[in-house]
Amino acid sequence: MCGIVGYIGDKAAAPLVIDSLGKLEYRGYDSAGIAFLDGDGLKVVKTEGRIAKLCQMLSGVCTDAKVAVSHTRWATHGKPSDANAHPHTDCRNEVAVVHNGIIENHAALRRELMAAGHVFRSETDTEVVAHLIEQYLDGRLEIAVRRAVCRLSGSFALAVISTRDPHKIVVARKDSPLVIGLGRGENMVASDIPALLDHTRETVILRDGDVATVTADRVEITDRNGTPLERNVFRVEWDPVSAQKGGYPHFMLKEIHEQPDAIANTLRGRLSGTRVDFNELRVPPELLAKTKRVRIVACGTAYHAGVVGKYLIEKLARLPVEVDLASEYRYRDPVLDAGDLVIVISQSGETADTIAALRESRARGVPVIAVSNVMGSTVAREADHTVYTLAGPEVAVASTKAYVTQLIVMTLLAMAFAQTHAGDPTGSGQKLCETLAQELRALPEKARKVLATESQVAELAKAIARWEDAFFIGRGLDYAVAMEGQLKLKEISYIHAEAYAAGELKHGTLALITRDVPVIALVTQPHVREKMLSNITEVKARGGKIYAFCRDDDEETPQHSDWHLQLPSSHPLLMPVLSVIPLQLVAYYAAVERGCDVDKPRNLAKSVTVE
Ligand code: AGP
Repeated sequence: MCGIVGYIGDKAAAPLVIDSLGKLEYRGYDSAGIAFLDGDGLKVVKTEGRIAKLCQMLSGVCTDAKVAVSHTRWATHGKPSDANAHPHTDCRNEVAVVHNGIIENHAALRRELMAAGHVFRSETDTEVVAHLIEQYLDGRLEIAVRRAVCRLSGSFALAVISTRDPHKIVVARKDSPLVIGLGRGENMVASDIPALLDHTRETVILRDGDVATVTADRVEITDRNGTPLERNVFRVEWDPVSAQKGGYPHFMLKEIHEQPDAIANTLRGRLSGTRVDFNELRVPPELLAKTKRVRIVACGTAYHAGVVGKYLIEKLARLPVEVDLASEYRYRDPVLDAGDLVIVISQSGETADTIAALRESRARGVPVIAVSNVMGSTVAREADHTVYTLAGPEVAVASTKAYVTQLIVMTLLAMAFAQTHAGDPTGSGQKLCETLAQELRALPEKARKVLATESQVAELAKAIARWEDAFFIGRGLDYAVAMEGQLKLKEISYIHAEAYAAGELKHGTLALITRDVPVIALVTQPHVREKMLSNITEVKARGGKIYAFCRDDDEETPQHSDWHLQLPSSHPLLMPVLSVIPLQLVAYYAAVERGCDVDKPRNLAKSVTVE
């Protein structure tokens, strides 16, 4: 996730786009840049850091440019740096490109372009687009852009300007939002509506495959082959604050709804057929191959993702895995051996306890892989290797899309361990990986189906909001998800909640079950379903109410429940990705019902940088 703004018209373009870019800083903030065309040709000013720093650099620049494109970055390919900041230019400094998304085939294109004599200046996937357009530019810019996008796989929202066809901005979209703002004698382009609202409310929202040529007084949209297309004008009625939230009342709900795209982005390019692509995962296979034991260390929601990771790695690679809370690990003098590998998981990459655990492990000679959502964060800088979750910036304190993408990365890592390990003599782990690769690709669509049950879940949440306690039960991976569900509910609705391994209830906790206690039961793991049904019966015998989340091929669980929701079935190892979504929605709607400050719950901070 990054932000794009462009302007063409009769006003001073540079200050206008920079001001509008500020409205998108929530989408990315590790570097920023602008390209504009004036009498002296193409100028690019860009820097690592926030937009404020770019503004300072621009204060000394005098330009009457009437066309500009700008970008605020949230790094995916290439660390945050001046060179990796957008815009990116071609060899002759005649084409400037800003880009949101991920070009999956960037490595092959880079090789091809370098062989043709192009010189690259950054580590980004985006720079290939500037050189491709240079290669094809021979007259109209839109023709070159259309030819270039036909060569790209992956996701992109692109805005391009060129000295060789200077009175236009050409934009193109696939799987990454792009909108045109319509004015009189001026037009704008942006990745997100909030950037436009100070200037216009009349917009054209581009669709996948669209390429648009935007001049000061004209917008022409075609497909990639140049066939003209009609698109409706959409009038935006949102106020600027809700526009930042994409029209949702809270960032948390927006981020819950972004999960299908976040899953797709985190998977993008990392699976090659049925195998993990180590180049894209950026973890050396030799390191995994020599690992004899894995230790996962994290806090809060990231710890819960680690618990899922333990199941996955043990199942797929038959490697022993221990999961630790970072605040415990750092002080308990863990036994570390040769052959150990530590995986730290941290959305922010700045959690003090997780950083301390990472340093402790490395100081004792154990290699560390970080799983983080923020490029250039402390854990990403200090770990030996980092695998990024590509969830985009998470604003709400309650972590949702970061957790789901952590599950995706843990699945990919588990598959990578299975690929590199000889500890699976039957080859069953390998076969499982093949099935998982297929099922992973289907997850974004299935996650969308789960989100379509929102209104049913919201009704359940209203009922739960009346109680002061709740239990979440499950077995195996369902227990791991129950842990995350109870944390979400506590964190934002302030309802006391506990997660229990369902088989453990009868060892004490059953004493607390009365008809005033809702019990949320997760029943997505077929191999323990019968056991779960027995545990559900135990609860019901004590008058407890059962709210069950089960698979859509399970007809029996609904018969034992007071309320149920059937989820699209996936491979049992992937069900956590789907079953956590309604639990996030339960927490969200219960918090709304209780009038809580959903995005900023009391006493909590997004990033816990102190002990
Ligand atoms: C989750 O909703 C929480 N806000 C919290 O548990 C969080 O996951 C934890 O503090 C770890 O943060 P990190 O992933 O940024 O390290």
